[in-house]
Amino acid sequence: MIHGGWMSQALCSAVQLGLPDRLAAGGQSVAALAASLHCNPDALRRLLRGLTSLGIVAEQGHDGYTLAPLGHRLRCDTPDSLGAQALWFGRYSWPLWGELVDSVRTGLTRRERRLGQQGYAHLDSDPEAARVFNLAMVQLTRMVAAAVASSLDFTAVRRFVDVGGGYGELLVACLAANPHASGTLLEIAHALPGGQRHLDDAGLAARAVAQEGDFFVAIPDGADVYLLKAVLHNWDDAQCGVILANVRRAMAPHARVVVVERVLPDSIAVSAAHQAVVRSDLKMLVGLGGRERTRGEFAALLGAAGFSEPSFRPVAAGFCAIETFGS
Ligand SMILES: C[S@@+](CC[C@H](N)C(=O)[O-])C[C@H]1O[C@@H](n2cnc3c(N)ncnc32)[C@H](O)[C@@H]1O
Repeated sequence: MIHGGWMSQALCSAVQLGLPDRLAAGGQSVAALAASLHCNPDALRRLLRGLTSLGIVAEQGHDGYTLAPLGHRLRCDTPDSLGAQALWFGRYSWPLWGELVDSVRTGLTRRERRLGQQGYAHLDSDPEAARVFNLAMVQLTRMVAAAVASSLDFTAVRRFVDVGGGYGELLVACLAANPHASGTLLEIAHALPGGQRHLDDAGLAARAVAQEGDFFVAIPDGADVYLLKAVLHNWDDAQCGVILANVRRAMAPHARVVVVERVLPDSIAVSAAHQAVVRSDLKMLVGLGGRERTRGEFAALLGAAGFSEPSFRPVAAGFCAIETFGS
């Protein structure tokens, strides 16, 4: 636990260098790799030893390395890639975690302490950070999206709105499973036009549109399902109340809301599953000012915004689909 950070940095460095993609075609000698990746050969060999111990690469002969099965998850072009996740954590989130103690002392994120800023506006002026963040969200959401689409009954749904949908990976899965439906991806500038490209690349150009908008101001009306994945956990209760009130206002009487979030257990055990949700909660503390919530806290939040008692359905990768209607 004390030294765990070296693993994040080893994985992030491998992705930054493009090492997994370079090895995907076959094993190479350290010298050849160092030349093509513009690295110091001795230093690269030491990184490769570290990655070998983590099962990312494997030794091949006297002086070569090949990509191990796990290493394929760090390539940029595989459907189950987590490369952008490794890059986002190791490069962009890293400084925030380095100041966790300051967030615990003040209750404020690093950006709130230093710049008095909240939210995602900083991504609008940093296209490369925005690209990595949005790809990281696609990779995370891909682990759960098909399970959300298949575990809820969307057969009567004609239109979805993916509220703060990133590049729209959840919308893609819902539309793929429901060919009769169309959808709108609501996002702010940094996720457009990448979001529209993502929808088009999924073959949904005729059925899905990325629309710029601010969910604190207004949300498109007339949809049957409003998807909110990993949105509420970014904000405090008062801010969630504003977002939910705008959803409520946009909804037709029959429409429903599907919130997809990790749910904080009432009591914490020593387990990988609980570590995943508390890690995400602390990430919200250092990075965005939001929080993870228990079932009771979600029910209270939704009830206060005029929604019915929610149902909780565990779907995949530690996420729950939380379904509620206008009451
Ligand atoms: C954690 S990401 C979740 C993305 C997507 N729902 C997913 O799970 O893959 C939260 C998203 O909310 C979007 N967002 C933040 N503030 C917003 C606003 N005021 N209006 C619309 N979207 C916003 C961000 O741009 C970001 O893409």
